[in-house]
Amino acid sequence: MDFAQDLKSQIDIVRVISDYVPRLRRFGNRYSGLCPFHNEKTPSFSIYAEHQFYKCFGCDAKGDVFNFVMSIEGLTFWEAIKKLADQHGIPLPKQSQASDDKTRLRAALYEMHEIAADHFRANLAGQNGAAVRAYLQKRGVEPASVSQFQLGLSDRTGRTLLRIFEQRGFKPEVIVQSGLIGRSEDGSLYDRFRNRVMFPIHSESGKIIAFGGRALDAEEKAKYLNSPETEIYKKSNVLYNLNRAKQGASQLDRIVLVEGYMDVIGASQAGVTEVVASCGTALTVEQIRAMKRHSLNVHLNFDPDTAGAKASERSIVLLLDENIHVRMVELEGGLDPDEFCKEHGADVYRARVQGAKDYFYWLADRARARFNMREPQGRIEVFQFLLPAIQGLNDKLKRAAVASDLASYLGVDSGDVLEQFRKMAADRVERTIAPRVDPARATDRILLPLLVGECANREELIEGLRGIEALKKGPTANIYATIMAMHDNGEAVRFSSVHQRLREADQEKLAAIVLDSGAAVPSPEDGMACVEALRKDEREAFLRELKAGIKQAEREGRMQDALRLMAELSNHN
Ligand code: UTP
Ligand code: MN
Repeated sequence: MDFAQDLKSQIDIVRVISDYVPRLRRFGNRYSGLCPFHNEKTPSFSIYAEHQFYKCFGCDAKGDVFNFVMSIEGLTFWEAIKKLADQHGIPLPKQSQASDDKTRLRAALYEMHEIAADHFRANLAGQNGAAVRAYLQKRGVEPASVSQFQLGLSDRTGRTLLRIFEQRGFKPEVIVQSGLIGRSEDGSLYDRFRNRVMFPIHSESGKIIAFGGRALDAEEKAKYLNSPETEIYKKSNVLYNLNRAKQGASQLDRIVLVEGYMDVIGASQAGVTEVVASCGTALTVEQIRAMKRHSLNVHLNFDPDTAGAKASERSIVLLLDENIHVRMVELEGGLDPDEFCKEHGADVYRARVQGAKDYFYWLADRARARFNMREPQGRIEVFQFLLPAIQGLNDKLKRAAVASDLASYLGVDSGDVLEQFRKMAADRVERTIAPRVDPARATDRILLPLLVGECANREELIEGLRGIEALKKGPTANIYATIMAMHDNGEAVRFSSVHQRLREADQEKLAAIVLDSGAAVPSPEDGMACVEALRKDEREAFLRELKAGIKQAEREGRMQDALRLMAELSNHN
């Protein structure tokens, strides 16, 4: 058996997935939860412990434990293997480290980021870092935070980092793919980040995958410079500080979303460690799903300026669309979280986070400030302004509840508001789950789960089914043929091995029949009874044909034939 198969047999897909999908419910051998790959309110995601396979009937994500880790972590096959092996304390065989080109490139990029972070840290700690250490101190960044967030300093000029990479033997074509080194028009290479405070950006699992750099020179046009996208850094998938925040987020069941690096550090120092930042990009669905794995409660704390408020409005709609419960942290004085913590202290900030109110009060305040509520036209405009956010609520009852809360908050007749929202509710297009595959023949529903499951009498079943014509026809013929062929080849007949062997259309059928747990799991006795019934049908059909053949031969006066068939018939009786 190869290493991957061996590894797979040693790990439990349910335990692996439960780290990403909270609140799994168990139904016998099946576990069900909200799909981490698409947005839904009722679970259509299932894990089949017996088959070590997952499938979502909503978005059709499916596969084994490797597929799951690859998709959810954005890893290559080899990286997924390595991660799972590490997690389970299973040593990798030497030769598997050869892996593939992409994995090798990514491993080099991770290493370069570690090297760069060490170098930047040393710069900041060294003689040339004194002024910058003083700057950080002045901005209220404690030395403990400098080390916790692994802050650093990029070199003032030139090609220092480039030379380090060259010395460590990295090839130029790999070096430029790191995003840390730029290539100028004449083809020469240079350090991208110069004279900046460096903030390492980590993947959720804690690897450094990029940097943000804050300018120290006031003349510098770009206050912040971020790594470009690379093989290991997809901006839209990453939240700054999620690697550290996730623990507190799960414990407290909330996550605070801010705009910038300094806000994260400020909030953390104030004791709000469940804080992440989107870092200068508009919030994406991928980022929301990453938060969602840890909590469904997001406290939004963007900058209070116009850009921040616009970003909040957009983010609220996106978050609601993903069924997140959104609250707004409101800070007076036009201060961002970092400035507020510095000015008012940790306790006041924590109280603001704790007391954050539902997003719609904040939206209503914005609406009230913008439109004249005393005019009928103004009230219409207010509703239009609030509409997208209310529509974002997936739950009908919740929409009605928010509508009446909003009505009383805005001081308008609740009947009016409710009427408006009822119309909206009617207009709303509910997402529907794709219809399930056509219910299969009863024989398929009994035989297939037994043939590919943990079945004690698989051998007996397979032998009993040999030569049955009914299984060679119909929509599942290929599946039976594949199972027979694998069995005869001495291969293990299991759900995932058979699934892997089939064409996509047949994979769908097998999954729908075997994994659809609407029906009770058949027993080995059911299986044998089914085999008997099939054999009986087969025999009766055969005898019917024989009798019809005799009649026809008699009618056509072929007495020799008729006698031969009659002899055959008596042999079978
Ligand atoms: P802000 O301009 O609000 O910066 O940008 P800040 O966090 O308050 O920074 P300080 O306090 O002046 O040091 C918020 C975030 O937007 C991104 C960065 O991620 C920043 O932390 N940003 C901002 C950029 O990517 N580029 C920029 O030029 C500015
Ligand atoms: Mn700031």
